[in-house]
Amino acid sequence: MAKVKTRWVCQNCGYETLKYIGKCPDCGSWGTLVEEVESKSENVSNIINDDSKVCLINEIEVTESIRLQSEFEELDRVLGGGFVQGSLVLLAGDPGIGKSTLILQTAGNICKKNKKLLYVCAEESGSQVKLRAQRLNVNSDNLYVYSQTNVEAVINQIDNIKPEILVIDSIQSIYTSNITSSSGSVSQIRECTNILMDIAKNKNITVIVIGHVTKDGNIAGPKVLEHMVDTVIYFEGDKYKSQRLLRSIKNRFGSTNEIGVFNMVDSGLEEVKNPSELFMKERTEISAPGSVIIATSEGTRALLVEVQALVGTTSYPAPRRVATGIEFNRLLQIIAVLEKRIGLNLSKHDVYVNVIGGIEIDEPAADLGIALAIATCFRDVVVDNDCVIIGEIGLSGEIRNVSNIEKRIYEAQKLGFKKAIIPKQSKKLQDYKDIQIIQVSRLMEAISACVSKK
Ligand SMILES: Nc1ncnc2c1ncn2[C@@H]1O[C@H](COP(=O)(O)OP(=O)(O)O)[C@@H](O)[C@H]1O
Ligand SMILES: [Mg+2]
Ligand SMILES: [Zn+2]
Repeated sequence: MAKVKTRWVCQNCGYETLKYIGKCPDCGSWGTLVEEVESKSENVSNIINDDSKVCLINEIEVTESIRLQSEFEELDRVLGGGFVQGSLVLLAGDPGIGKSTLILQTAGNICKKNKKLLYVCAEESGSQVKLRAQRLNVNSDNLYVYSQTNVEAVINQIDNIKPEILVIDSIQSIYTSNITSSSGSVSQIRECTNILMDIAKNKNITVIVIGHVTKDGNIAGPKVLEHMVDTVIYFEGDKYKSQRLLRSIKNRFGSTNEIGVFNMVDSGLEEVKNPSELFMKERTEISAPGSVIIATSEGTRALLVEVQALVGTTSYPAPRRVATGIEFNRLLQIIAVLEKRIGLNLSKHDVYVNVIGGIEIDEPAADLGIALAIATCFRDVVVDNDCVIIGEIGLSGEIRNVSNIEKRIYEAQKLGFKKAIIPKQSKKLQDYKDIQIIQVSRLMEAISACVSKK
């Protein structure tokens, strides 16, 4: 009998090693390495009929990629014009954010076009899905629901039903019999994704895979499969609020610039076709000292978000600093600069900073906005309502240049903002008609530029 080979796999990033180590050398997380039995030699191609053949590049017929619209404009735009036939799309997000809801509604829309869809609910029973479908008013003769966790069983059903779209909800709860590791482990997720990729490419089925993002390292997040799939879209937002954001972070068939905005109501997700309206409406209601709009950019996308600060006299021996949605050390640094460079004495004040909408900002371009939120709250003045703030702060209080400045300004302009405070060094590459650009080089300048004297 052959010796059973095992290896240790980081459940966070997929790093593999033969011996146990406490800290993953790749991603730096502790205690995430789990022993997994190596897969049997049985190969993916043994399960799936291989009907592709080797051919000359000149002989390959170019087929225009066929797009399947979901009838959700917000989703189609993020996908680059709809689901590409034969592609594998990963929809990732926190548990409970509304992934199953979005996909079930999308499934309903697609099935109305006489397309067969197989919905594999590995986490829920058929009746649970039915209940949700009733609440969402989804109902079709083309929608097949299959409560199954075994990938091989799913493949059998694909051959029976011959769907055009396959939904897997979720990748963490399915398993392949090829591997002995438990479902949700890195090896299972990888192997299952491989098999699903094969289904997509060889059978020309559009595969939509749902994946949970977990904060603790025990369950493999979709991070390990991001590089394997064609498109990765994230569904995010504050679980306790109704606003939901959809954005793609990888797309082989379109740009990753677009975001989609949804509203979660009792009857499911509603599209927010004009986010600026929603945004401005909320904004006028809030308009208070310590509230600032910043333009953040992750990768190539720009997104306007509201940052709020609350500064008040402390009743603790050491003042409290609380950061939600921004890095804690970044907040400390900004407070230090405010104290040293513009003489704001915060040593007896608690400072709370919060990014609205459950979004995490990890780029320095938000510095200036955060600083202005704190400074205006401290001085009890209001930043102009139609003003967006962009800039990094250096330790000497200088405003530093940031990347993608044009995209940020463009986004602000699109959402109806009239004024943008940006770093002095940034090149103004074009004339903006609808938005006034104010370039600043010091913190004080920025404050006087965005606070109108009464
Ligand atoms: N009976 C209900 N009425 C209204 N909203 C509900 C109901 N059940 C669930 N929801 C909403 O749907 C969300 C869960 O959506 P779901 O699609 O199951 O999330 P995910 O698949 O991402 O875990 C809940 O957070 C809640 O906002
Ligand atoms: Mg779900
Ligand atoms: Zn790791």
